[in-house]
Amino acid sequence: MSTHKEIKKITTHTLQRMKMQGEKIAMLTAYDFSFARIIDNANIDVILVGDSASNVMAGHETTLPVTLEQMIYHASSVIRGVNRCLVVVDLPFGSYQSNSEVALASAIRMMKETGAHAIKLEGGEEVLESVKRIISAGIPVMGHLGLTPQSIYKFGTYNVRAKEDAEANKLRSDAKLLEEAGCFAVVLEKIPALLAKEVTENISIPTIGIGAGKYCDGQVLVMHDMLGINTEFKPRFLRQYLNMFGAVTGAVQQYVKDVKANDFPSDAESY
Ligand code: KIV
Repeated sequence: MSTHKEIKKITTHTLQRMKMQGEKIAMLTAYDFSFARIIDNANIDVILVGDSASNVMAGHETTLPVTLEQMIYHASSVIRGVNRCLVVVDLPFGSYQSNSEVALASAIRMMKETGAHAIKLEGGEEVLESVKRIISAGIPVMGHLGLTPQSIYKFGTYNVRAKEDAEANKLRSDAKLLEEAGCFAVVLEKIPALLAKEVTENISIPTIGIGAGKYCDGQVLVMHDMLGINTEFKPRFLRQYLNMFGAVTGAVQQYVKDVKANDFPSDAESY
């Protein structure tokens, strides 16, 4: 008797095929069971358990404070809500930068303790040895270039990256290195659309853009931003699909009113 469960439908190979067939890849972040269930059920291709959890779940100013243990908690909650999509998890700041042995140990913990399907880490040449070592262990890796938020104190701002030749050339070369190392996809964050187009055409693996224009093979947004749970964050690249802050505020205000007026619960809602 086989003890294997049916394999998840979307795999890294599916994404590769989508790029080859010109089918766009839709990725969103999620951090918990309930939203992962809704998003998976709505036919998303990939859920990213992003280290943006540090911002939107924990209220930190940057992504730096979130820990490996916290990311493991978020990722294992998401995995329990998913039947179909690919789940990629960010390795958080400090869990892979020191050397490739540490990076591999973090990636193995993430895969073993969460059931995630792949990991993502930020950077190009600087993290190449780690990327290769993690992939050699059989763990799929998604790269992340351009505005890499774990380096925000190096950049100093959240402005568009790679507008100048030197940085654009490094990004071109890093994308190639990540492809050659065996990454299955790469996120391009906040770079000029034409640079993203060029990279997308010059590498064989899918590019997933955020603030990188329409020529990428796929797009990713932070769920809290696109659902309008956050109201303050309004960069040009963000399309807000819902005003959830407003909707939830209205519902809570109505509930408070009903309780104060002794209108809830009604007889029909009582035993
Ligand atoms: O952590 C995150 O949400 C991300 C996306 C913005 C790509 O890395």
